[in-house]
Amino acid sequence: MKPHKIRIAIYPGSFDPITYGHIDIIKRACFLFDKVIIAVAVNPQKSPLFSQEERVDMIEKSITEFSGVQVDSFHGLLVEYAKEKDATAIIRGLRAVTDFENEMQMALVNRKLDENIVTTFLMTHDKYSYLNSSIVKELISLGGDAKCFVPLHVNKRLIEKLRKQ
Ligand code: PNS
Repeated sequence: MKPHKIRIAIYPGSFDPITYGHIDIIKRACFLFDKVIIAVAVNPQKSPLFSQEERVDMIEKSITEFSGVQVDSFHGLLVEYAKEKDATAIIRGLRAVTDFENEMQMALVNRKLDENIVTTFLMTHDKYSYLNSSIVKELISLGGDAKCFVPLHVNKRLIEKLRKQ
């Protein structure tokens, strides 16, 4: 019998910061893959609120309940990073139809670059279908409460960053 090849997936994103929507996708990806690598994209053209180290740290603190999940960061092309890690899949979360156009473009470009890496779309729980990191940042900066959208330690860091005078 052939030995079972472990299935590795990359879950890439900005994660600025991680939300319960991302965590929901990570949980679903764990059902499908032996190993899930959450990969924080380092894009010199973007200026995220949190540094690469802060984003990685917040993710690590948010995923302690899952096994087979690692956190890392990457520069440059996602498919190159995925190949380096021996991954066969890229995970992306879909919330609503508005996500679809961008996601399809990205998936098709990535497929053109390497057709052996399969983009896999997972649907978030409907309770997170309207959630993204930007809306959480706006909510916190305007004095709102985001405890139902992000883990407590992330909520605390957001308050420290966005409400300090
Ligand atoms: O959380 P985001 O911002 O929607 O994530 C987008 C991300 C980081 C997955 C995407 O921009 C990406 O893959 N960046 C790496 C550069 C790359 O490979 N681009 C794809 C060629 S179209």
